[in-house]
Amino acid sequence: MLDAQPTQTETVLEVNNIEVIYNHVILVLKGVSLTVPKGGITALLGGNGAGKTTTLKAISNLLRSERGEVTKGSIQYRGEKVQDLSPADLVTKGVIQVMEGRHCFEHLTVEENLLTGAYTRKAGRGDIDADLNMVYDYFPRLKERRKSQAGYTSGGEQQMVAIGRALMSRPETILLDEPSMGLAPQLVEQIFEIVKNLNENEGYTFLLAEQNTNVALRYAHYGYILESGRIVMDGPAAALRENPDVKEFYLGMSDEGRKSFRDVRSYRRRKRWLS
Ligand SMILES: Nc1ncnc2c1ncn2[C@@H]1O[C@H](COP(=O)(O)OP(=O)(O)OP(=O)(O)O)[C@@H](O)[C@H]1O
Ligand SMILES: [Mg+2]
Repeated sequence: MLDAQPTQTETVLEVNNIEVIYNHVILVLKGVSLTVPKGGITALLGGNGAGKTTTLKAISNLLRSERGEVTKGSIQYRGEKVQDLSPADLVTKGVIQVMEGRHCFEHLTVEENLLTGAYTRKAGRGDIDADLNMVYDYFPRLKERRKSQAGYTSGGEQQMVAIGRALMSRPETILLDEPSMGLAPQLVEQIFEIVKNLNENEGYTFLLAEQNTNVALRYAHYGYILESGRIVMDGPAAALRENPDVKEFYLGMSDEGRKSFRDVRSYRRRKRWLS
């Protein structure tokens, strides 16, 4: 087991002023910097197309398959440049990404899906069984569904499979892309509770990308807000929750009543807080 308490001091991941270009021409990240402390939950927030997934893929070296490239800046994990590693090498360093859209192997059972997560390890069957039991402890639902074909399980169960599979690689840091996507509010809450428990009890470090600012800021320790490829604000989650601009444009809680997504979009064009 790793540290039981989040220390919030040691930085494990550092993204320094990165620029990402797709297809040699489309500039998507325009100088993004962020740091992820060991044992913390850090949220990367922002609307549709802000660049959250691109940032996570830049970190885990998944951009190449999308014709994307980090053209400036650097990414360090535990002080080591990791830009030139393959995604699999990065997994052996302890960093794993749970992709947006909860990718599962649909034709495999839930348990077989989980076991695929252990493929980068040289662990024996005993260790792997112990980890499988740990995953089942956190996700009792997956234990019930262990023999079901993953393609026939619900969206929430598939998200659990995707996270559980990542845990099977014995990571230190988990990059979690949009865990709330397409799930009913109650399930979203359930997934975030499990993330919180994993963080607190097992010491996993999380960097999670979320459009759902409200839920993310309730569970994260620190947040970064990304707009059109730039970080426009960052701070402790509690401070962001109280920030009037965040309340108005991301939490939909202003005095004038709830803002629609469209209002948020038109606001984005004005960029009041950037000027
Ligand atoms: N493979 C690609 N080729 C070209 N442009 C891309 C590619 N992938 C993403 N983009 C563009 O990069 C921008 C950022 O996309 P990204 O997927 O990182 O945003 P996001 O914040 O994750 O959004 P969402 O919340 O919708 O998942 C968008 O304008 C998107 O159209
Ligand atoms: Mg995304």
